[in-house]
Amino acid sequence: MNSLTTIQTNDNIGQTVTVRGWVHTVRDMGKVAFIDLRDQTGLLQVVVESDKLPKMAAEYVIEVTGEVRERGERFRNDKLATGGVELGADTITVINEAAELPFEIRKDTSAINEELRLKYRYLDLRSERMATNLRLRHRVVKFFRDYLDKQGFIEVETPMLNRGTPEGAREFLVPSRLHPESFYVLPQSPQQFKQLLMVGGIGRYFQIARAFRDEDQRGDRQPEFTQLDMEMSFVTQEDILALNEAMFIEMIKTVAPDKKLTTVPFPRLTYAESMEKYGNDKPDLRHDKNDPNELAFVWVLDFPMFEPGENGKGLSAMHHPFTAPKAEDMHLMDTEPLKVRADSYDLVLNGYELSSGSIRIHNAEMQQKIFQVLGLSDEEITAKFGHMIEAFKYGAPPHGGMAPGIDRIIMLLAGEPNIREVIAFPKTGDARDPLTGAPAPAGDAALLQAHIKTVPPLKKK
Ligand code: AMO
Repeated sequence: MNSLTTIQTNDNIGQTVTVRGWVHTVRDMGKVAFIDLRDQTGLLQVVVESDKLPKMAAEYVIEVTGEVRERGERFRNDKLATGGVELGADTITVINEAAELPFEIRKDTSAINEELRLKYRYLDLRSERMATNLRLRHRVVKFFRDYLDKQGFIEVETPMLNRGTPEGAREFLVPSRLHPESFYVLPQSPQQFKQLLMVGGIGRYFQIARAFRDEDQRGDRQPEFTQLDMEMSFVTQEDILALNEAMFIEMIKTVAPDKKLTTVPFPRLTYAESMEKYGNDKPDLRHDKNDPNELAFVWVLDFPMFEPGENGKGLSAMHHPFTAPKAEDMHLMDTEPLKVRADSYDLVLNGYELSSGSIRIHNAEMQQKIFQVLGLSDEEITAKFGHMIEAFKYGAPPHGGMAPGIDRIIMLLAGEPNIREVIAFPKTGDARDPLTGAPAPAGDAALLQAHIKTVPPLKKK
């Protein structure tokens, strides 16, 4: 028999229906018993004569059949979406029992030890706050998909097993069984492929893209995270900013209408202005930092093309080496490269870097030149990026894009203190998954097949 969700009972007053879910609470008053039945849509009050109540406890999975009744005026519960009705049970069947849970899920779990919550994440997800966060995430992602679809973008999947790319973060290696002693790396972003899609004539691309970075973790960083990755051909920086600004404003209006935007249109600062005025490149421009509904977006523009390299040696690209330097600064490229600015921009929200992007290089000589300034030999350039430089020789269109971090957006909309709270199965601060035990030793047979010999870590002195 088809069952209803608890919320659907509202539309079935007077009908005999079946509802399935979990026992949120059960109270046996002697003659009658009350069960709060929980499913993915919320709670429903079930009333049953005590002698028809099977043995049950919290979190048992049950099926209830009975009549949906309108509650009397005095018994309505306005806090509940189904507070105007109750289910008068004729039969209740226990579908599955539940052991006592390792922690309380009927209230906000955020104060509970996180290691425990992550070990039993599937139970944590039953709590209202976690379920609400995942629903919000779904609505935001769906909004972006629909919005970009209407703007003529198509979603294209790009590979996970890749060649390394120099975007600043350490990469996760994946050994190749078929090619001994060779490795794929997991993408730290789809950067190269989205540019190649532009060379491929796709014009407007987006992807809800998983990205991987072997970095030290922080509250706003995970080793794997999700970007709304996008790229467009024949656009100026202004086109990209305008499209994204309109999309974010509409998204907030649709998905989080209680939020207030501090300033519209979003203010714009150059990197130099931001550093001078706020001492950083992601200023928090909220008027009232205690207002959970205030959202202060700001664009930071004209980032430097380069920054000093690691340990002060050489240069590295501030955004990434595919970013176009500003034409008017090109004359400084050989003499004062640190003064060269790029057509690169960040979208900042409440002091967090929400997104970065840039206009890209689409000219083979210019791309070669940037790699040379970054200190790569011509052989290294050919070996690592020959495919990009070659692609630019076959009629590459001017293009640019950006990639807002989905996890950070949801964290800020949900008012959560870190992105783990808005990811279904996140890693701990030290990149472990307490639920499955990842990462774990591979075992000798797997290592042999992957042609890998492990070496214990060097002892720290
Ligand atoms: P960038 O490296 O700035 O740019 O990343 C874009 C956005 O992704 C989010 N982000 C993260 N979120 C969670 N955990 C992490 N470890 C993490 N690292 C980054 C942030 C950030 O702003 N390919 C370019 C984009 C482009 O040029 O189009 C890129 O990846 O919200």
